[in-house]
Amino acid sequence: MTVKWEKHFNEKTKKRLILSTIGEMMLLASQQNALSLTAGEPYDLLYPSEALKRAFEKALNGNLVSHFSYSNERTGMYSLRKWIKEWMAQEGLLPSWVTEDHIFITSGSQEGLSFLTELFLTEGQTILVESPTYPEALLTFTKEGAQFLEVPLEEDGPNIEAFRNLLAREKISFFYTIVNYQNPTGYSTCTSKKKAILELAKEHDFLIIEDDPYHHLYYDAPPEKSYLALAGDDDRVIYLGSFSKIVAPGLRTGWIIAPEEVMGQLLKLRVLSTLCLQTLHQEALFNFLTETDMPSYLNSLRHTYKQHRDAMVEGLDAYVKPLGLTFQIPKGGFFIWGRIPQIKDMHHFAKYCIVEEKVAFIPGDIFFADPSKGRDTIRFSFAKTPPELAIEGCKRLGSALKKYLNGQK
Ligand SMILES: Cc1ncc(COP(=O)(O)O)c(C=O)c1O
Repeated sequence: MTVKWEKHFNEKTKKRLILSTIGEMMLLASQQNALSLTAGEPYDLLYPSEALKRAFEKALNGNLVSHFSYSNERTGMYSLRKWIKEWMAQEGLLPSWVTEDHIFITSGSQEGLSFLTELFLTEGQTILVESPTYPEALLTFTKEGAQFLEVPLEEDGPNIEAFRNLLAREKISFFYTIVNYQNPTGYSTCTSKKKAILELAKEHDFLIIEDDPYHHLYYDAPPEKSYLALAGDDDRVIYLGSFSKIVAPGLRTGWIIAPEEVMGQLLKLRVLSTLCLQTLHQEALFNFLTETDMPSYLNSLRHTYKQHRDAMVEGLDAYVKPLGLTFQIPKGGFFIWGRIPQIKDMHHFAKYCIVEEKVAFIPGDIFFADPSKGRDTIRFSFAKTPPELAIEGCKRLGSALKKYLNGQK
């Protein structure tokens, strides 16, 4: 007998579990053997594989029983939390109240977002997000039936006037922001806008979730102060960090910084979800972090990604901009965000590019909470694309665009 699975699935969950457009485009691109400018992942050749191998070996040569038992460090390994605290303090990202006991290790920021959704969202509440923003965060927030308000994002952060007007309209539970080299735009929020938003947060009593996975991938000057540090004693900012983009996403390790009361609740959520995290990854990561010259390691990552970015900018300037693409050069991160005003349906054009010219990118509308927005926008990722392939990808895109626009007439 075959179970009729459809009727057993939770209706609300089923609606969220749609194949993401990013997944769909990546699948189509690989089936068609297309040059992919889609993935928001690090460049494989930059994984510190040998150093990580040594770090794992060292962990496995240590106390094996501790790796094979349930861990009683439910908020994460103490030495790793301490390392993160000292590293962030050195960089001026922390207010004075943060100690290692305010750091909670996650299996990546995505898990952090999921926990914070459960903690702070009551069914049907409204939250404010940047427009555009990271779609997997939107899908996570809908777990608790979130309603979205979108604030337009500019090159230096959210439009403050629009922010005020939205707050006048509706009460929000929290503001979710990707502060540096945002996914998908590459934009960063400047200090004065952060200060204005912190004032609004006090006045309207909402929380700020500061998601910062691209922090160390800057190709110009380092990022400005975090919301967390700027807020000082006003402990309404919850910070999310991640090792995915700067060490390896497969380690699935990130962290949340939150005040004591929130830590207590996170601890209970950890027990309900996975009881505890595995210690082997955490210890290996700690070994890697303490045995690596981190400043020069991060410099070398930035050096390579900057070359990738510059090549893609050069290619877009040469082959796509003359045909109508507008875009800003990102100062860090993995992404270039653009608009092609003549394109009315970027999904259709994206599929056309994969099939006709074997080049793939992500149509921009999926980054908006309101899917009718951004139909002429586009996201390129340069992270995994070395210079010669970036130029080739842009050449193919230019050629596809020329043909497509001629056909559209
Ligand atoms: C803005 C943003 N937040 C969170 C994540 C998830 O990161 P992690 O691998 O730490 O779960 C990503 C990954 O692309 C991201 O772009």
